[in-house]
Amino acid sequence: MSIQKDVIVLIGAGQLGMAIARRMGYGNKIFVADWKIENANTISKIMRESGFDVVPFEVDISSKASILRLIEAAGQEGEISMFINAAGLSPSQASIEQILHVDLYGTAVLLEEFGKVIKKGGTGVTISSQSGNRMPALSAETDRQLAMTPAEEILELDVLQTGNIKDTLHAYQMAKRCNVKRVMAEAVKWGERGARINSISPGIIITPLALDEINGPRGDFYKNMFAKSPAGRPGIADEVANVAELLLSEKGAFITGSDFLIDGGATASYFYGPLQPETK
Ligand SMILES: NC(=O)c1ccc[n+]([C@@H]2O[C@H](COP(=O)([O-])OP(=O)(O)OC[C@H]3O[C@@H](n4cnc5c(N)ncnc54)[C@H](O)[C@@H]3O)[C@@H](O)[C@H]2O)c1
Repeated sequence: MSIQKDVIVLIGAGQLGMAIARRMGYGNKIFVADWKIENANTISKIMRESGFDVVPFEVDISSKASILRLIEAAGQEGEISMFINAAGLSPSQASIEQILHVDLYGTAVLLEEFGKVIKKGGTGVTISSQSGNRMPALSAETDRQLAMTPAEEILELDVLQTGNIKDTLHAYQMAKRCNVKRVMAEAVKWGERGARINSISPGIIITPLALDEINGPRGDFYKNMFAKSPAGRPGIADEVANVAELLLSEKGAFITGSDFLIDGGATASYFYGPLQPETK
């Protein structure tokens, strides 16, 4: 008699997502979901040929209906015991509107909907960004709105309207700040199921998304960032997987509602070292 496996759902078939899924996924069934099915197929092939049990799936996280289809399909295979969200668009890849719909709204819906189905004692991580840490503090009221507004209403908040968002970098930073706040609020709900949810804020990690930034209009800014950080180099996806392993495994049993910065010290240097913006 075959024993039904637990299901791990990875959203975002990129390098960060694959590194985490490979670290955590052995022995479970892994859904690898992405809006580019070819990305999901590519990662699935690599993982299947390394002995993992993988199902590629098409999902667009800017659509709640699409997210619900993923949850239904994954749920038919077994209980969802782990959630990994590594889907996203960077400032050089998309418009303000797309970034807010995918990185901000999409993540909010994922956290809300997976929080309703995650197995008792399950765990999750969502990838935020150190970029959100470079933005000045928002008011306590704005933080609360970003954390607590129901996902379906969040894009109507004043702070997210076109006139209040300067450019795609600002949209990305707001989205990533919002991810961290929502993880705090969701940790309370996930806790009612005995489940934990955390976020990871990476600095520059070499992936296709980071290469788009390094080779894009802000390339010099990014090269300067890792050159003047304490580590003096960009990171790799497996280093992010080290943190994810702590958060997703029993070793992280007392950690929930937290954000972990892993950026080679770039944020430290931005505030108190050679990366400080010119002060007048
Ligand atoms: N690489 C870095 O330096 C870095 C740093 C900080 C944060 N991040 C964050 O890490 C996450 C993963 O990035 P990565 O570097 O692995 O990038 P990546 O481009 O390798 O992977 C991201 C994946 O997300 C998918 N995606 C985009 N929009 C989607 C949507 N609407 N629905 C479903 N899938 C969608 C893309 O198709 C892609 O396969 C992103 O949220 C990114 O903002 C990355």
